[in-house]
Amino acid sequence: MTSHPPAAVVVLAAGGGTRMRSATPKVLHRIGGRSLVGHVLLAARGTQPDHLCVVVGHGRDEVAPHVTAIDRAAFVAVQAQQLGTAHAVLAGLEALPMVEGTVLVTYGDVPLQTTETLADLMAAHESDGNAVTVLTAQVPDPFGYGRIIRDDTGAVAAIVEEKDATDDQRAVNEINSGIFAYQAAVLRDALGRIGTDNAKGEMYLTDAVAIARADGHRVGAVRTDDGWQTEGVNTRAQLSRLGAELNRRTLSHWMAEGVEVIDPTTTWVDVGVLLAADVSLEPGVQLHGSTQVASGAVIGPDTTLTDVVVGVGARVVRTHGSQAVLGAGSHVGPFAYVRPGTVLGTGGRIGTFVETKNAEIADGAKVPHLSYVGDAEIGTHSNIGAGTIFANYDGLAKHRTSVGAHCRTGANNTFVAPVDIGDGAATGAGTVVRRAVPPGALSVSTGPQRHVEDWVLRKRAGTAAADAAMAATEAAAAAATEEEHS
Ligand code: UD1
Ligand code: CA
Repeated sequence: MTSHPPAAVVVLAAGGGTRMRSATPKVLHRIGGRSLVGHVLLAARGTQPDHLCVVVGHGRDEVAPHVTAIDRAAFVAVQAQQLGTAHAVLAGLEALPMVEGTVLVTYGDVPLQTTETLADLMAAHESDGNAVTVLTAQVPDPFGYGRIIRDDTGAVAAIVEEKDATDDQRAVNEINSGIFAYQAAVLRDALGRIGTDNAKGEMYLTDAVAIARADGHRVGAVRTDDGWQTEGVNTRAQLSRLGAELNRRTLSHWMAEGVEVIDPTTTWVDVGVLLAADVSLEPGVQLHGSTQVASGAVIGPDTTLTDVVVGVGARVVRTHGSQAVLGAGSHVGPFAYVRPGTVLGTGGRIGTFVETKNAEIADGAKVPHLSYVGDAEIGTHSNIGAGTIFANYDGLAKHRTSVGAHCRTGANNTFVAPVDIGDGAATGAGTVVRRAVPPGALSVSTGPQRHVEDWVLRKRAGTAAADAAMAATEAAAAAATEEEHS
């Protein structure tokens, strides 16, 4: 169905969210990597309203800047005291220029609503010539929702809140989504007459339905088949329930686009993530923020990536990464910790028990085992020996290390930054590099190996070690004698 854009959308987000038992305002809780109010704002903006207004109150010092950051054009209205949903809409209308035509009202805690559903509501509202149109749904467990009360003709007569409902009314499982289209004039008129005579002592927006009807206006309903779009978050349990459903929807979308998801129940993908066809997600993968994965890459199992860009055909196994770029055909993990500022080139490797931070590891360069690489660049096709520490911090400041191209550094090195290692250089095992290594040089810093003969036999006499050494010495002596006599 097509419709005109609404004159205004008012998003209610001022409530306390008491049932969440959280220091964070309810609408800032997140599912799919986006706040509840963020989801609603995007759906609302999609209807291209002349004005978009968000009513904030509880926690407004946090909520208002969050809203502006997501949608700079949104009006932010303040409802200082939360006296009910009707009171909140009044605050919203006051913040807007005088609007005529259709006003959509929606709630900031109903995160799965979509632009299409809002547009369908608008279209039905206009084509039926309604004064008020409510979006409803039939849900398996209507507890806590306002119930849609219909008359003998099937028309909507009223909405009754859980706490005010009779047993018969509670048995109704068609619920109020909280999403309405109103003729602006009818809404303003009804708001002026809504009282507080109910179980909560609040001004209920839902009373506008009965008022409009009593005035002889046409009240309609659009029932959506997708009940999820009408579900609100009041509790932590509902938050996780809707978060899981959003994730199922996100994964279904990506599977339809050609992504392989081995185990959807343990795979979590934020709404801002982009995946190419033929990406494969193994069990236990979480992709957050603006993570992007190119075709043929295999992620997981057991990998968490936040704002990471993964190139074509890369392999990322049991890795925790953020704000990093992993090149095409690169190989990361298992058990890698890839921190912000890591850039791994094409065919590069960050191996097992390796931590990287602010590290540019060029094409074909490898850090295969047990190392820390911080504030560094490593040139093309260099190989860093196992157990190497880039000592970037002197206790006061961080310094950089530069390793050239085609270097071969030995096992268990320490590079004391700031320091440079020239192209094609090599280092011996256990080297502590404190000064620049010229291109092509071999750097060794450990002293010559020396032995204190029979130290164990003297100092540890009677131990298993001494006995073993004694036996070996005797065997060697016997073998030498044998050799002489043959
Ligand atoms: C409301 C509806 C109920 C509907 C349900 C759908 C009313 C009276 N009840 O109940 O019929 O089935 O939503 O999810 O409208 N808010 C304000 N200012 C206030 C009070 C609330 O901005 O003074 C905001 C809240 O932040 C929230 C929304 O309005 O986003 C709904 O408020 P909430 O208290 O969650 O209402 P419900 O009890 O869920
Ligand atoms: Ca609610």
